[in-house]
Amino acid sequence: MIKLIVCKDYEEASDKAAEIVLDVVKKKPDCTLGLATGSSPVGLYQRMIRDHEENGTSYKDVKSYNLDEYVGLEVSHPESYYSFMHRNLFDHIDIKEENVHLPSSQGDDLQKNCDLYNAALAQTQVDLQVLGIGSNGHIGFNEPFTPFDSVTHIVDLKQSTINDNARFFDNDVSKVPTQAITMGISNVMAARKIVLIASGANKVDAIYKTICGPVSEEVPASVLQQHPDVTVIVDEAAASLLPKEKVKVEILNTEVFDDVVREGTVLVDFFANWCGPCKMLSPVLEQLAQQYAGKIRFYKVDCDADQGLAQRFGVTSIPNVVILKDGQLFDRSIGYASKDQLVAFLENAL
Ligand code: F6R
Repeated sequence: MIKLIVCKDYEEASDKAAEIVLDVVKKKPDCTLGLATGSSPVGLYQRMIRDHEENGTSYKDVKSYNLDEYVGLEVSHPESYYSFMHRNLFDHIDIKEENVHLPSSQGDDLQKNCDLYNAALAQTQVDLQVLGIGSNGHIGFNEPFTPFDSVTHIVDLKQSTINDNARFFDNDVSKVPTQAITMGISNVMAARKIVLIASGANKVDAIYKTICGPVSEEVPASVLQQHPDVTVIVDEAAASLLPKEKVKVEILNTEVFDDVVREGTVLVDFFANWCGPCKMLSPVLEQLAQQYAGKIRFYKVDCDADQGLAQRFGVTSIPNVVILKDGQLFDRSIGYASKDQLVAFLENAL
């Protein structure tokens, strides 16, 4: 479930992110933080440093695990993520060096480094994971089409990522490393809580797809829709493609069913909370509800809570989508319907 916070600008977004992170650190002084590099969390880190200096919030028992590290840069290189984290955060708070973890990209056996990082993560519960997002929807360096069940691995960076990151390397793409080691998507999803920060117009497409798009490996961040506690904090520029007011797909029950569906074209999704495919269908329906707002109304029926409606429509498997026109059954899908199939149903019903 993604909670979206739209802020005026990057400064306000960093304030909000800091509120969430500091709340976790203050409530649990020995918490484990998952940390990100790049421009997005810099404002957050500045606020953590300021709070440490002014209010004395201590990190002496905090542990941190970073998402990723470039391959091919010495640890001491100013743009290694090790250097970045020390320059932007670690050197200014009282976190202990032995509690700081980044994947190591040094030595000849990078796979072994990945295995070691995975082993360490397997023994750790990250309380809060901070994320940025790539313009192509990557999280960590999990580029499009990285399997959702991936763990820490070596990755070839996409050209779009290399181009985006050239700004840290004198705008010279030839200086940007072409490989990195990154936590996998399943490592990221294992965190108790996730905060993603995005700002600027070049994130607009990735943010739209993350929040409104189908959950798909093509857009790695879309997997966050399946995490129970994610807050996405965006500035207005990054939010500009998001629907101003999200059309809600409401839950229907037997009492109001006849009144509500008497007129017009209505799509009803029969679902259950424990059903994986139902959860995958949910964001697709949300997106279609936006797209067809004013033409078709969308509802959901919780089959466990309201078995009467499920029986009335002969729903024996879920998810099951029914289209009604003026109260009468018009069309239906049996089982999971893809977005394309649903669009075909809807177009046919219009
Ligand atoms: C960094 C990382 C990346 C960045 C992303 C956005 O550790 O994992 O996913 O968060 O590339 O980078 P910025 O914030 O520089 O736009």
